[in-house]
Amino acid sequence: MGASFETHHMLFLLWFFAATFSLNFFKVESNSNVSCIEKDKQALLSFKQGLVDSGNVLSSWSDHEDCCRWHGVRCDSNTSQVTELHLSCPMDGDGDFNYKKTLGGVISHSLLELEHLNYLDLSWNEFNCTGIPSFLGSMGSMRHLDLHDSGFCGVIPYQLGNLSSLHYLNLGHNFLHADNLHWMSSLSAIQYLDLSSADLHREVDWLQIMSKFPSLSELDLNGCQLDSLNPSLGFVNFTSLRVLFLSGNHFNHEIPNWFSNLSTSLLGLGLAENSLIGGIPSSILHFQKLEYLDLGENSLRGKIPDSLGQLKHLKSLSLGGNPLSGPIPSSIGNLSELQFLFLDSSKLNGTVPKSLGLLSNLFSLSIAMNTFTGSLDEAHFTKLSKLKYLEISYTPLFFNVNSNWVPPFQLEYVSTSSCNIGPNFPTWLHTQTSLQFLLLPLSGISDKAPSWFWDWISNISTVDLSNNHIEGDVPDILLNSTILNLRSNHFKGRLPRLSANVEVLDMANNSIFGSLSTFLCQKMNKKNKLKVLDVSNNFLCGELSNCWRYWQSLMHLNLGSNNLSGRIPYSLGSLVELESLSLQNNSIYGDIPSSLKRCSKLGLINIGDNHFLRTIPLWITKMTKLIVLRLRSSGFKGNIPLNICQISSLRILDLANNSLSGPIPSCLKNMSAMVMPDYQGIYFDSLEYMFDYGSYLENLMLVPKGHELQYEDNLKYVRIIDLSSNNLSGSIPVEISVLSELRFLNLSRNYLMGSIPENIGILQKLESIDLSWNLLSGEIPPSMSNLTFLNYLDLSYNNFSSRIPSSTQLQSFDVVRYIGNPQLCGDPLPKCCTPRIGKSCNRTSIGKTKEDSASSSFYMGMGVGFAIGFWGVCGGLFFKRTWRHAYFKFVNDTKNWFYVTTILKVKWLLEKR
Ligand SMILES: *[C@@H]1O[C@H](CO)[C@@H](O)[C@H](O)[C@H]1NC(C)=O
Ligand SMILES: *[C@@H]1O[C@H](CO)[C@@H](O)[C@H](O)[C@H]1NC(C)=O
Ligand SMILES: *[C@@H]1O[C@H](CO)[C@@H](O)[C@H](O)[C@H]1NC(C)=O
Ligand SMILES: *[C@@H]1O[C@H](CO)[C@@H](O)[C@H](O)[C@H]1NC(C)=O
Ligand SMILES: *[C@@H]1O[C@H](CO)[C@@H](O)[C@H](O)[C@H]1NC(C)=O
Ligand SMILES: *[C@@H]1O[C@H](CO)[C@@H](O)[C@H](O)[C@H]1NC(C)=O
Ligand SMILES: *[C@@H]1O[C@H](CO)[C@@H](O)[C@H](O)[C@H]1NC(C)=O
Repeated sequence: MGASFETHHMLFLLWFFAATFSLNFFKVESNSNVSCIEKDKQALLSFKQGLVDSGNVLSSWSDHEDCCRWHGVRCDSNTSQVTELHLSCPMDGDGDFNYKKTLGGVISHSLLELEHLNYLDLSWNEFNCTGIPSFLGSMGSMRHLDLHDSGFCGVIPYQLGNLSSLHYLNLGHNFLHADNLHWMSSLSAIQYLDLSSADLHREVDWLQIMSKFPSLSELDLNGCQLDSLNPSLGFVNFTSLRVLFLSGNHFNHEIPNWFSNLSTSLLGLGLAENSLIGGIPSSILHFQKLEYLDLGENSLRGKIPDSLGQLKHLKSLSLGGNPLSGPIPSSIGNLSELQFLFLDSSKLNGTVPKSLGLLSNLFSLSIAMNTFTGSLDEAHFTKLSKLKYLEISYTPLFFNVNSNWVPPFQLEYVSTSSCNIGPNFPTWLHTQTSLQFLLLPLSGISDKAPSWFWDWISNISTVDLSNNHIEGDVPDILLNSTILNLRSNHFKGRLPRLSANVEVLDMANNSIFGSLSTFLCQKMNKKNKLKVLDVSNNFLCGELSNCWRYWQSLMHLNLGSNNLSGRIPYSLGSLVELESLSLQNNSIYGDIPSSLKRCSKLGLINIGDNHFLRTIPLWITKMTKLIVLRLRSSGFKGNIPLNICQISSLRILDLANNSLSGPIPSCLKNMSAMVMPDYQGIYFDSLEYMFDYGSYLENLMLVPKGHELQYEDNLKYVRIIDLSSNNLSGSIPVEISVLSELRFLNLSRNYLMGSIPENIGILQKLESIDLSWNLLSGEIPPSMSNLTFLNYLDLSYNNFSSRIPSSTQLQSFDVVRYIGNPQLCGDPLPKCCTPRIGKSCNRTSIGKTKEDSASSSFYMGMGVGFAIGFWGVCGGLFFKRTWRHAYFKFVNDTKNWFYVTTILKVKWLLEKR
């Protein structure tokens, strides 16, 4: 889980830079009054011919124009020879890469004609996994070669070693590999080398090779699968190095001693995510000029050395994600240039030093997920006037400030999940007028919402105040936040009006009353964007209304556990984007309209606990995306439709407690989601809606092991068939043993006859079987003793006979799980079996049930914990390729290296997917 906080700050940086900077660094001026050489022009035209230029970037490259004035071309002002090609993907006005304008295709040999070309930049294009052309190694004048992030694949051509004038080589973020790098040793002029993400694990001599370049000043080997920093070497001659990025490899050893030979003018050092062990070495202190230090996400232990305060030039310090203990040294207050401080997800304890309040340049502070004690008070923030990002969640700190405190900062992001920021409503928040992300779930606020509350939050785009005890009337107000999560508080009143900005409204578990239709039928001037509406567990009443056509963007709708009545309106079928529909636990009756067929994206239907008194509609079996079907306790009758097995994505089938009759369909084996193990890339879009810094998760009550459990983030791991408490007859189909991924099976309280299928033991993932109160007979199949994960079993009240097979599992269940079977014998039942082959029944000592064993607790939907999993946090943002690229671009072009490792991690995590 540590990773999620790590991602928090990476995301934050992305967000910050994409939002704050206009990233237009890339205007290439053409020379105004040189005119180009015909031979060069022809070479360029034939280079253009090989390229795929669907965005018409090269439209200026035409025969009747001076080629020195073409886009991206630069000529020598004296000789008019073409010397530079700047063909990186252009940006649009927002500073995003304009992906319609990437180049691709073939890099033509005609480039060789440009004998004086010394600068070639093809970065951020899309060469579609072709190889880097080896002839580039023949371009003897080349000084600057940039092929960063352009989709190249394959081996790094050794011919590049011939480029003896090369100063700058950037092959980072492609899909490259190299078996050895010895050919590189002739790159004697190299100053900047970026091979990040290339697989170099076969080159064990990388360190020797890199340390022989006399002028090497920046080296980036992030994510290169390197295995060792050769801790045994006494000396590595990296004396001119100013920047060293080696994050995301797997060194698994201590930071070697040779680091102390690195130049004292080192500016940046990135060693994050390397499984480094040991402590933070004191040699770090030797780099007095260090501005960027990233040792995050390793296994470094011990204390943060107090002497860290000597690194006075540090601008970014990242030590988070290490099992470091002890306090934050108070010398931290000496780091007056510090802008980014990430100490999250460690085991730091003690009180937070007040000297933190001296960091007058601090922009971003994250001390989340530690075990600090005490409180944060005004002194901790005295000079933090530049603070924009404050992350202190999952740290048991009290926020102890005066009610009239006016903080020196204007935050844009604050997250205090699980801190004690209450019990009073934090009034200082009202002074914060730039907030975009207000994340205060589970923060112990137990107070009335102040009078300014609703006006104030309407300017904040993401608000999460869930799981507090905030009281307040929902006035007749226009809600305006994009994401608004007020779940599990004490808000009361009628549903408010929504502005066209609102995408997520979660007011579940409050005391909202009144009619739903007034809300749904509100007039809105603009087309609304509402995607998630969860008002479950309130006191809404009336019918479901007919105004659904106004809400066509809805993807997740939960109206469960209210007092809604009437029929499901036909117009609900106009919600064609709907992925989940939850109407459970109301008083809805009548037909389930066939118009819902049109909602073909539905992955979750939960309409249980109503009064339908109908047969299960056949069209449901055509819903091919359905993952969850819960029709529990709603008076359904008739047979289970045979075609139900056509729903191949079904993982949760809960038809319990109805009046269904007839047999269990034997086609079960067609339900492939219960048969196939999860493969990578499986999507559960219908179970979650992700946004920046969070997600909305579907939740569901299930009865996996005899009692109700609420499933939320772990819903996607559940596979259950619950047909209990119906009037089903016939036998248990033998096909059931094909459902090898099934975890919970409940067929209890029916009229099933016959025996348990012989090979049920194949269902290795089964954690629970309930077959109680049926008419089943015969032996308990010996294969059941193979069900090693089984921790709930109920076979009581059937006609089973003979001996209970012996296994650690089967004997561990309580006697009551077997009673009511007069002919059953053997341990754990008191009844001895007739001795066979000399063995009578001796009670073993295992007598204890293991129903809540650790093996299953992972799957149980309880506790609050992290509602947001790793990818949940990442939200849509992580996948916004444009932002990611914009950021890389920023970093690259401004030579603002010092955020590089942090961000490279993002990309690299993406590639690990
Ligand atoms: C370029 O053109 C400008 C006027 O447009 C002129 O002043 C300048 O001398 C020219 N330079 C060369 C190198 O021809
Ligand atoms: C990339 O390759 C795929 C298949 O090889 C092809 O369909 C696609 O059009 C190519 N894209 C570009 C931009 O060349
Ligand atoms: C380290 O490298 C520099 C530059 O290449 C060279 O001048 C110096 O002699 C080397 N030192 C050692 C001890 O090898
Ligand atoms: C911090 O944790 C360490 C190691 O768990 C422990 O020895 C030390 O007493 C703790 N310090 C405080 C102030 O709680
Ligand atoms: C509503 O939100 C938008 C941005 O999403 C903001 O510009 C506007 O000021 C807000 N309106 C009110 C009344 O707060
Ligand atoms: C239990 O499983 C093993 C291997 O999976 C198999 O060889 C054995 O026959 C099974 N036992 C029973 C009783 O089915
Ligand atoms: C049953 O247990 C008793 C004493 O606990 C022992 O004497 C006897 O041999 C056992 N019988 C079998 C068949 O294991």
